[in-house]
Amino acid sequence: MSNSAASLVAIWCLVALITFNTGLIETRMEEVDSKYKSVEPHLTSTEKPKLEPHVDLKMGKCFHMSREHCPTETKCKRVDPVSVFCCDVDSTRLKEALAITVTQNTVNLHVLNATIEELDVSQSIFRRLTSMALTDGNIGRIVGQFPKYSSIACLNISNNNLSSATVGGPQPVQRPFAYLFTLSVLDASANNLTEFPLSLMQSNRKIFLDLSGNNYLPCKHFLIAMEANNSSLVTFLNYNRTFCALDLLFNWFTELQIVPIDHLRVQKEVNASCLKIRPAESRCSCAPDRLELLDGAVTNVVAVDCSRRHLQQMPTNLPPNTVKLNVSYNNITSLQAVSDDPSYEHLRNLLVDHNDITSIVDLEGTKFIDNFMVFSITNNKLKTIHTYVLSNRFDTTGPSFLIANNYIHCDCNTEKVLKPWLLENLKSIPDYKSLECEDNMGPVVDLKEFQVCHTPRDWTDYIYYIIGLEVLVLVLLISKVSYDYWVFKTAGYLPWPANKMPRLPCDWLCE
Ligand SMILES: *[C@@H]1O[C@H](CO)[C@@H](O)[C@H](O)[C@H]1NC(C)=O
Ligand SMILES: *[C@@H]1O[C@H](CO)[C@@H](O)[C@H](O)[C@H]1NC(C)=O
Ligand SMILES: *[C@@H]1O[C@H](CO)[C@@H](O)[C@H](O)[C@H]1NC(C)=O
Ligand SMILES: *[C@@H]1O[C@H](CO)[C@@H](O)[C@H](O)[C@H]1NC(C)=O
Ligand SMILES: *[C@@H]1O[C@H](CO)[C@@H](O)[C@H](O)[C@H]1NC(C)=O
Ligand SMILES: *[C@@H]1O[C@H](CO)[C@@H](O)[C@H](O)[C@H]1NC(C)=O
Ligand SMILES: *[C@@H]1O[C@H](CO)[C@@H](O)[C@H](O)[C@H]1NC(C)=O
Ligand SMILES: *[C@@H]1O[C@H](CO)[C@@H](O)[C@H](O)[C@H]1NC(C)=O
Ligand SMILES: *[C@@H]1O[C@H](CO)[C@@H](O)[C@H](O)[C@H]1NC(C)=O
Ligand SMILES: *[C@@H]1O[C@H](CO)[C@@H](O)[C@H](O)[C@H]1NC(C)=O
Repeated sequence: MSNSAASLVAIWCLVALITFNTGLIETRMEEVDSKYKSVEPHLTSTEKPKLEPHVDLKMGKCFHMSREHCPTETKCKRVDPVSVFCCDVDSTRLKEALAITVTQNTVNLHVLNATIEELDVSQSIFRRLTSMALTDGNIGRIVGQFPKYSSIACLNISNNNLSSATVGGPQPVQRPFAYLFTLSVLDASANNLTEFPLSLMQSNRKIFLDLSGNNYLPCKHFLIAMEANNSSLVTFLNYNRTFCALDLLFNWFTELQIVPIDHLRVQKEVNASCLKIRPAESRCSCAPDRLELLDGAVTNVVAVDCSRRHLQQMPTNLPPNTVKLNVSYNNITSLQAVSDDPSYEHLRNLLVDHNDITSIVDLEGTKFIDNFMVFSITNNKLKTIHTYVLSNRFDTTGPSFLIANNYIHCDCNTEKVLKPWLLENLKSIPDYKSLECEDNMGPVVDLKEFQVCHTPRDWTDYIYYIIGLEVLVLVLLISKVSYDYWVFKTAGYLPWPANKMPRLPCDWLCE
């Protein structure tokens, strides 16, 4: 009797417990769901991921417990029917402990300070989780792939000394996150990632991403994520503490610059501003070129191609931040616009090959001359090179000036000034040997003095004639004076014209 009563009580307790637990599970699930639902409405646009302050961070958190709640006897414990918390484990301990604590109902897992050589995320034990956190440990590498249609909504792998080489890659190339279609929060902060998890960007969904503390992620990947208007909506958690690396591989110096992602300027208007280039019928094409620091902001600078457009003049009203312009194969005669049009202010590469330009004098004092890296004016109609326009520009190495196949007017000045200038700056003028003289006189650097410098030689020739003449006159004068003296001494009179000369005060000396 007492036995059956006891078992009845036990059964009752069990039923009560199960009901209680199920209730808990349900509320917990709701919580999890509502957590992620409640954060979504904040994501309205990615144009500027500055929405972060509006996001209640508590809502965007994965299941997370602090160190003081670490289980004391065991490695893992069930903190509630759906959540498991582990501390300070290695791979084998974790496997054992999870096998005991994780049940069918477990949806939340936080492992604090796991030291794992290789984390295989395809393990079935992770299959039911909606929130998975392995934080503040040391994970050698992440392998495998979360199973298809895995229900993970929040993943925290913060502070595990992970690098991109150890997440998935390099061989075989795997993308652990590829099937995380339900993921809405990924915290990969405080690692050493060098590749942006762009695979997350592919489906149309809203996602919170914390990549702070990974300083070598390329800025261009962030720009892709920020530009994606429609394909995916990314909000960066810890936005102001997220940095990216700017690869300033720009002509001659290689330097990695780390900038806050807040300095990235998304330019959506490149195509629109390209249509505004005048003359309108030129239909130039424009393309983002590279990320650069311009006026303190990281800017996707623009390259404009107006080549082969039958232009008679330089185009004007270039898109903002145009640094490259190709206007080759046109019929342009003047470079005036470079100094007159403000849209040329950032220009650094200018290609005006195969045009009809006669002079570079219009460029004197322009910003372009101070900044240019490439200035190519080959196959034009330059008559002379005004070297003073380019004065000092070649003191620094870097800029190149290309002038081949111009047929300039060569004279002695060319030989005396331009030729030495070309030879002095040959590092910056790679095609200096192909600057030609008109009238088939050959390359400027092969000019010889005697070919072009006639006038100065004639002049020196005359000098000798004049000197000779002067000597002759002097000799005649001395002979005449001597003759006069001899006549005076022998015949006693002065011959003409000495006898007509007035007496001078010094004459008594002779008498
Ligand atoms: C992830 O874990 C880190 C380190 O414990 C914690 O600071 C952060 O808030 C967690 N992030 C999320 C989204 O839960
Ligand atoms: C992390 O766990 C390892 C054992 O796996 C332990 O030696 C180490 O002290 C732990 N780190 C911290 C900060 O507790
Ligand atoms: C972090 O990972 C690198 C290899 O990626 C390893 O050499 C280094 O020892 C790790 N640091 C710690 C603190 O474990
Ligand atoms: C990242 O790597 C560098 C050197 O490779 C190391 O000094 C740094 O501590 C690492 N950072 C983290 C968070 O492991
Ligand atoms: C991006 O979205 C905004 C509205 O949110 C829209 O005005 C704009 O045209 C979109 N741009 C692209 C390239 O889809
Ligand atoms: C998203 O882009 C597609 C084309 O890629 C377009 O048809 C659709 O209208 C866009 N949706 C929104 C909300 O902008
Ligand atoms: C980031 O910092 C800037 C100023 O440095 C501030 O205006 C902005 O509100 C901050 N954004 C966030 C998300 O904290
Ligand atoms: C901009 O124009 C280029 C062609 O010049 C085209 O390939 C690209 O899709 C355009 N981008 C947008 C956003 O319209
Ligand atoms: C400039 O345009 C010409 C003609 O289209 C082309 O041959 C040349 O490769 C272009 N130069 C650069 C650097 O893009
Ligand atoms: C423009 O230049 C091309 C050669 O580059 C030439 O054939 C054409 O006649 C020129 N057109 C005008 C209007 O000068």
